[in-house]
Amino acid sequence: MRVLHVCSELFPLLKTGGLADVTGALPPALAELGCDSRVLVPGFPAFMNNVIDKELIADLGAKFGAADVRLYLAKTPDSSISLYVIDAPDLFDRPGNPYADADNHAYADNYRRFALLGWVAAQLAGSLDSEWSAEVVHGHDWHAGLAPAYLKAEEIKTGQKLAASIFTVHNLAYQGVFPYRVLAEIDLPIWFFNIHGLEFHGQVSFLKAGLFFADKITTVSPSYSREIQGEEQGCGLHGLLQARSHDLSGVLNGVDPAVWSPVTDSLIAANYNTRSVAGKLACRSALQEYCGLAKQDEKPIFAIVSRLTEQKGLNLVLAGIDEILSRGGQLVILGSGDAELEAAFSERAAANPELMAVQLGYDEVHAHRIIAGSDVIMVPSRFEPCGLTQLYGLSYGTLPLVRKVGGLADTVTDSSLENLADGTASGFVFNGFDVAEFGAAVRRAFALHARKAEWKRVQKYAMQQQLGWDAAAKAYYELYQQVSN
Ligand code: ADP
Ligand code: GLC
Repeated sequence: MRVLHVCSELFPLLKTGGLADVTGALPPALAELGCDSRVLVPGFPAFMNNVIDKELIADLGAKFGAADVRLYLAKTPDSSISLYVIDAPDLFDRPGNPYADADNHAYADNYRRFALLGWVAAQLAGSLDSEWSAEVVHGHDWHAGLAPAYLKAEEIKTGQKLAASIFTVHNLAYQGVFPYRVLAEIDLPIWFFNIHGLEFHGQVSFLKAGLFFADKITTVSPSYSREIQGEEQGCGLHGLLQARSHDLSGVLNGVDPAVWSPVTDSLIAANYNTRSVAGKLACRSALQEYCGLAKQDEKPIFAIVSRLTEQKGLNLVLAGIDEILSRGGQLVILGSGDAELEAAFSERAAANPELMAVQLGYDEVHAHRIIAGSDVIMVPSRFEPCGLTQLYGLSYGTLPLVRKVGGLADTVTDSSLENLADGTASGFVFNGFDVAEFGAAVRRAFALHARKAEWKRVQKYAMQQQLGWDAAAKAYYELYQQVSN
């Protein structure tokens, strides 16, 4: 089975969020099942400068406003993933964030940049590479949304279906919506601009194209696949998602143990495992030292590693800081995004340097240090398609405190008395998006932390969860087989 993943990020080369963790982990997990999957990415500098064994596959000339487009086949530095990279300097050779300029404004030509990605994907299902062609094109998020549309256009033109398509929604809130006029520049039939097509309130939606034209749609957790069929979380697309509910399923993300395992993680102060969490104490102490926090063993360290955006529900944490600090708990935050949240958290940390530490920006090593060294990882999201940090928390015995929504609801079980009695508790879960409910969950974490033996039992159970990528890889593989028959 030959599968082409189409995406804009891939760990460890380029990452702004969990999408990169997924696209970096899924192809090797699929390879274990004998599935030959390759990845297609835009030639951002992070890819062009860091892949190895680059081999020219095709010279595509001028396309979508780029004077000179070339396609290379290469390998990731650890050689585990075969990567097609679209070298189009006019569109992709820009420093920093892959989607936006230094002032964080989305690039005005994003429609051309990601149309090229979708168009090349469809060509790779044809004869573009004489030695390999995709049987299934698997697009991830709106950046790849046009891939199924180009495949459909080709099918209509030639009467022959080049490949089946799967479209995975990692986040319905990011849609890639552009004015109608862009359609003239992206080489798709004009009549695709239709309510039964890629038209969305008079504009061109790359996300809707993926949802409409793909053979199957997946989301990254079962709960999210249900939630987005309702008005509240459907981002205006719930009608289409309901209509396609038979083709829509949820496949829960996993944890890549090569990157996130306390047993082998080389970025943390000491390794540990379920049988002996002594190493975790060393990680805890190293975290306090690195952050300049007071050394204390008695009260829990709460943590956040997150994009600071509306989605992540961090206003609850801001409002609940006193609930943590007044009980002697400590709070460590790593994140970047919303300027107001950045300033508000930094201000609170400056006023309480022994109890609270904030680091702004993106820092992979610090993320590992925090996940290993803290006691509670908080993810109080308004919505969460899957969420990976709570999964990393479970693996590292850092109990997740989450809101019961999306993938968070599917992966964490509250430490209620009955769940403790049953031995199924793995963290702290609250329901409503509400400061009082968040505060109660924080108090539950303090209460459990004070009962050392019970805390250890929950921690052990959390660490024993089977969170690898094998189950998801199997589910995707089955889907590939279904659509390609
Ligand atoms: P999302 O994709 O919505 O941001 P996820 O929980 O799926 O949320 O994935 C977030 C990923 O990004 C995790 O791997 C997390 O460790 C990482 N991450 C988030 N913020 C930072 C940061 N400031 N520095 C380093 N890693 C971060
Ligand atoms: C998105 C979602 C997140 C998910 C990630 C990887 O960024 O916000 O919940 O874990 O994609 O699928």
